[in-house]
Amino acid sequence: MTEATALARIPRHVAIIMDGNGRWARARGQPRLAGHRAGTRNIRRVLKACASCGVEVLTIYAFSTENWGRPSAEVRGLMRLLEQALTEQLAELHAEGVQIRHSGSLERVSESLSKAIQEALELTKDNQRIILNVAFNYGGRAEIMNAVRRIIADGIAAEEVNEDLFTRYLHTAGLPDPDLIIRTAGEMRLSNFLIWQGAYAEYYSIPTYWPDFDQEELRKALEAYAARERRFGRLKNR
Ligand code: FPP
Repeated sequence: MTEATALARIPRHVAIIMDGNGRWARARGQPRLAGHRAGTRNIRRVLKACASCGVEVLTIYAFSTENWGRPSAEVRGLMRLLEQALTEQLAELHAEGVQIRHSGSLERVSESLSKAIQEALELTKDNQRIILNVAFNYGGRAEIMNAVRRIIADGIAAEEVNEDLFTRYLHTAGLPDPDLIIRTAGEMRLSNFLIWQGAYAEYYSIPTYWPDFDQEELRKALEAYAARERRFGRLKNR
C-alpha cells in the first residue's frame, strides 16, 4: 500500500457499502453465504490498509435494517458470521489497537450476539490506532428518528436544537463525518447509509465485488478522493 505521505490528502473517515457478496459467490457457483464469508474475511485486509494509510475511522455497512427482509437462512448466516468474527478476532483486533464501535440498534439481535458486541466495545474502547465502526442493524432514517425522540424525551427546547446538538444524538456521536463513501459492486445509491453524516462526503462507486476489493482498489479510491476538490457549498478558492 502507498505510504500515507504519497497522497496529498487522506480522508479521516472512510465509509464503505460492502456490496456484491452474493454476485461474487454466484460467479463461482457457490452459495450466497460463501460470498458473505469471503466478504467478512476482506474486512480485516481493508482495515489494515486503512490504518497503514492514516485513515482514522473506517465505517462498514454490515447489516441494514432492511436486510431483515432477506430469507431467514441468510439472515441467520450473517448473524453467525458477525458473532464468529467478533469472538475469533477480538483479541487480535484489540492487540492491533483497533477501537470497535457499533452504529445501529440491538433490537431483534440475539442475546449472545448483543453480548459479544458489548464486550468488543468495552474491551477496545480506549484503543487509538483506528476506529472500526460497524453499522449493524443500522438505518439512517431510523437513526435520525431515534435522535429526534431522544431529544424530545430529554426535554430540550426547540431553540436549543442545532446541528452540533443533533449530531451528538446520532450513533456516530464523537466521530468525524465521513469524507469518502465507497460503494462496491456498481450501484449508485446510498441505501439509507449515513444520510445525515454523509451530507458533504465524496462518493466513489466501483464495479468490483466487495470480496475482491483489496489494497490496490483502496489506493485507487484514496487517489480519486485526493484529486477531488471539496467546496462544502462554497465557491472555488482562487
Ligand atoms: C451485500 O452483498 C452485503 C451485505 C448484505 C452486507 C455485507 C456483509 C458482509 C461483508 C459480511 C459481514 C457482515 C457481517 C454481519 C459480519 P449482497 O448480498 O447484497 O450481494 P449481491 O448484491 O451481489 O447479492
